[in-house]
Amino acid sequence: YLYSPLLFAIGSASTLLYSPPATRHSLPPPFPPMSSRKKLIAGNWKMNGNRVEATRIAAGLARKLTDADRPLPRITLCPSFPYLGLVHDLLENTAIKIGAQNCSEYLEGSYTGEASAKQIKDIGCAHVILGHSERRSHFKETNANIKAKAAVALKEKLIPIICIGETLAQKEAGQTITAILSQLRESLPKDIRAEQFLIAYEPVWAIGSGSTPTCEEIEHVHGAIRQELGKIVSPAGITPILYGGSVSPANAKEIMKIQNVNGVLVGGASLKLDEFWDIIQSSDE
Ligand code: 13P
Repeated sequence: YLYSPLLFAIGSASTLLYSPPATRHSLPPPFPPMSSRKKLIAGNWKMNGNRVEATRIAAGLARKLTDADRPLPRITLCPSFPYLGLVHDLLENTAIKIGAQNCSEYLEGSYTGEASAKQIKDIGCAHVILGHSERRSHFKETNANIKAKAAVALKEKLIPIICIGETLAQKEAGQTITAILSQLRESLPKDIRAEQFLIAYEPVWAIGSGSTPTCEEIEHVHGAIRQELGKIVSPAGITPILYGGSVSPANAKEIMKIQNVNGVLVGGASLKLDEFWDIIQSSDE
């Protein structure tokens, strides 16, 4: 549904027609903002919720979707492993996709406690979040681990949402762009194609803090990511770049208007049905 040849053709054609506006940033995005493509709103529930909560949110969203009287963005929900099957079944006849929050870098076998990309695909996931900063910090995941996980995800036709983001110390040292671009380069498997993955820019200091970068800062970083993607995949304009970190009903509309922001990855607010629905409705497309 996401990366049809038609969309690919639209993306390529609009790349040709696009002439970048003058901007005061040193890194103007070389590709169009993909305004013709629907945004993606992804909810990362992290290790929260229970059977009752998961049912309430998933069934509530399904109901709201049925009642909606205007086109909606693409939506994906990422509950923790025990609830993936439940949420999948509740959303089966809706346009809402589901995703896992991690997968093993191993294909299958004696890896107690792990879940493989093949199993995640098998229970109906479309996406898998990889390299979230909480996994990088608490579980010491490296870019090399993330790259290996992305490679097995691609093999199973799961779409990885690869997370990158600078720490507060890196931001304060003026190293934001260097930090995120090296994560980007080192986390992408060789030969990955532009339509096979998404990037989520999540500044570590913005996650769960209520603080976000300014719109100018987000635009600058997303522009730099887009430009770097241009050296890795083609056409880089079709790879969605999500923003994540304290997205709320109060800031979602503004954030989603920023050039090269193709959607949002929402943590805390995705656990509150009304807030998540407000964010979904903040998307123009
Ligand atoms: P918050 O939206 O709670 O800041 O979390 C963001 C996040 O980590 C999504 O992956």
